[in-house]
Amino acid sequence: MYSEYLKWLKTGLEHLQVRGHVWPGTEPDKTMVIGEGRVAEIMEELVAKLGGNYPFGHPEYAGQMLKPPHGIAWAAYALAMAINPNNHALDGGPPTSEMEKECVSELAAMFGFRADYLGHLSSSGTIANLEALWVAGRLHPGKAIACTTAAHYTHERISAVLGLPCIKIPMSPGGHPDMDFLMKHAPDIGTLVVTMGTTGTGAVEPLHVLAGFCRKKGIRIHLDAAYGGFFKLLQGSSLIDDAPWELTSLADSIVIDPHKHGLQPYGCGCVLFRDASVGRLYKHDSPYTYFTSDELHLGEISLECSRAGASAAALWATLKAFPLSGDTGFGPVLQQCRMAALEFAGAVAGLDDYTMIGSPELDIVIFAPLSTGRLSSQVSESSKTVFRRGMDPATPAGDRLYLSLYRMPAAQLPEDCGIEADTEEITVLRSTLMKPEHRGFIPEMVERLKRLAR
Ligand SMILES: Cc1ncc(COP(=O)(O)O)c(C=O)c1O
Repeated sequence: MYSEYLKWLKTGLEHLQVRGHVWPGTEPDKTMVIGEGRVAEIMEELVAKLGGNYPFGHPEYAGQMLKPPHGIAWAAYALAMAINPNNHALDGGPPTSEMEKECVSELAAMFGFRADYLGHLSSSGTIANLEALWVAGRLHPGKAIACTTAAHYTHERISAVLGLPCIKIPMSPGGHPDMDFLMKHAPDIGTLVVTMGTTGTGAVEPLHVLAGFCRKKGIRIHLDAAYGGFFKLLQGSSLIDDAPWELTSLADSIVIDPHKHGLQPYGCGCVLFRDASVGRLYKHDSPYTYFTSDELHLGEISLECSRAGASAAALWATLKAFPLSGDTGFGPVLQQCRMAALEFAGAVAGLDDYTMIGSPELDIVIFAPLSTGRLSSQVSESSKTVFRRGMDPATPAGDRLYLSLYRMPAAQLPEDCGIEADTEEITVLRSTLMKPEHRGFIPEMVERLKRLAR
């Protein structure tokens, strides 16, 4: 499919660029024309260069949060991108702005937000979080943004950019936020970031414990569901712990990244606010836009200016094919990922050469090799060896397994993992099973893991 898509793209490019942009009744401008053979040459060179990527689409790639978008998203993006609408203002792309509003309302409904929410797509999870924390800072000026040490690193940076203090909440050995610490710092906190699917381990922070506390103390709740948000669809399926997910509608703001689990190409984040009145904070004057309609222009409620309308078209087409439902569309896709993680964790737990580090809460699995010893220093070295071997071009193709590494405080190792700490930190293996195809590949992954440890 990938090579077919490239061929199609090449044909599209030839149409647009070799002949110039030809509209009826116009002549192509010669400054835009590329020689017929030259396009093919450049594209061949590009194809060769792209070959240097890791095999992100193959289930043997289980390292970082990377997966190719679904074909329908590619196709819709490419088609809309040839027109290149800009979703900043309705002047720049009325149809794709409408598509964006439709998609955002479906995401808001998934989290249980009522009709008077506010939200839009963004170019990434970081930018979406920036907006949510910017609003948070405007509503609680000078007060801190608090997040756990497991939160994405950008929260601390975003707070610094916004000139807000950032309070990092330590985690207990069981991986829960230290409530005594939180209690002590509550008077200084304006907003608490609760991560629904941490980047490191896919842990879902206990919103059900934190929500009541925040309400009592007048603290805003921001859910960073950039990674885990779509797992909301598994609520009630017995595949996840429902308790934190049941309360998503209590959040003041939520970030979810369709370019992670939403089958989208990069450039598609989303921020949602429960209370649409925060729109007043965005009020600005733009003497060059917003003329075509009195209807809401997305740029009026967004910090970014230009944004690809093609992103909205791609998400819109994907949601038509994969509705946000637990039983059809996205639900079964996420079920496969979750099942893959459970089955992989079960298989790894049964291997002599490996140990599991906790149990996966979503589809990220943390484990470690014990083949050279059980001291944390030895485990760190073996993890790095398995990681390097797995992706080494010198490793036979049938043994390759693309994993990632995860560094954590040794004090947070679960007691039952059988590792003895002789260092403050330990490096372990991390596997992100975010493609539904991973599930059928688990037996092969486990065989490859065994060979890599030897
Ligand atoms: C929980 C979480 N928040 C935020 C981000 C940042 O998102 P982006 O890479 O889209 O900027 C990530 C990225 O991995 C993430 O996992």
